[in-house]
Amino acid sequence: MSGLQITPSAQYPFGCRIEGVDIRAGVDDQTAQQISDALNQYLVVCVSGEPYDSEQLVNWAKKIGPLEINISKAFQNAAYPQVMTLSNVLIDGKPQGLADAGQEWHTDMSYNLISGRATILHAHQVPVKDGRPLGDTAFRSMYAAYEALPSTLREKLDSLEAVHDFENLWTHMLARPGSMRKPFTDAQRKEKPPVVHPVVLRHPWTGRKCIYVNRGLTTKILGLPKQESRDLLDFLFTHQEQEQFEYRHQWRVGDTLMWDNCASIHLATGGYRADQPRVMIRTQILGDETRYRKANASLGARIFNAV
Ligand code: SIN
Repeated sequence: MSGLQITPSAQYPFGCRIEGVDIRAGVDDQTAQQISDALNQYLVVCVSGEPYDSEQLVNWAKKIGPLEINISKAFQNAAYPQVMTLSNVLIDGKPQGLADAGQEWHTDMSYNLISGRATILHAHQVPVKDGRPLGDTAFRSMYAAYEALPSTLREKLDSLEAVHDFENLWTHMLARPGSMRKPFTDAQRKEKPPVVHPVVLRHPWTGRKCIYVNRGLTTKILGLPKQESRDLLDFLFTHQEQEQFEYRHQWRVGDTLMWDNCASIHLATGGYRADQPRVMIRTQILGDETRYRKANASLGARIFNAV
């Protein structure tokens, strides 16, 4: 019998903390289902606990859904390439993990043909200053952002579609001072060509409408003149990033944070120095083509295009 306690965030309009499950001991099917249901309800779910390794992460994450192997092909666990280390630690000048993950607003895996389901990020080391953890991850609810728009604009957006491109975020990160990324390769471009999604997605699990564009990965809106597409995207980015749609996660060592990648955007806020180690392991849960198609059936052939 599962003894999960789920406590909704007292501070933010979404997000919850789950206690009463020890992921190190394995997660049974019933518990995985409860966590998955909580994800649909709260968008961001934090399971409290103690640090565990990549094998344990894969073992429970795959009960939520199939896992992505990230095309960056860097800092992946040798035995479990579905797991990537995010870290600012250098040993003899060599990075021990991806140091700049998520440092621009984005939605993980919107660069896939099928919108991604979730990301799981598990904290091994968290920098602290004066007793306050550093390196929060900030989220915005794309349900709330959609619902806050005037109805005439919602109607207009409902019929639009946009291009998402992995290379866009990569290039932005590469351009930052001190970036250790290598230039995006032709092989990566071939593996992840730009894709098209509706600007307003019907969530494949909940059926609710949410804004599905993000600053990191969305490059243009189809069918609009170039400047109009740019202006509309800039408006949507500014709108969706407002604090009124916020959940902000303050990390504890051992936290397992899982977030919904259809109805949220997120940002690694940084704010710690190179000598303040932050070490996380991450895996990403792919979307479900049948659910994606069914929830967005009214869009017909307009979705599922690589461009
Ligand atoms: C991510 O966007 O995957 C990383 C977020 C973080 O490190 O806070």
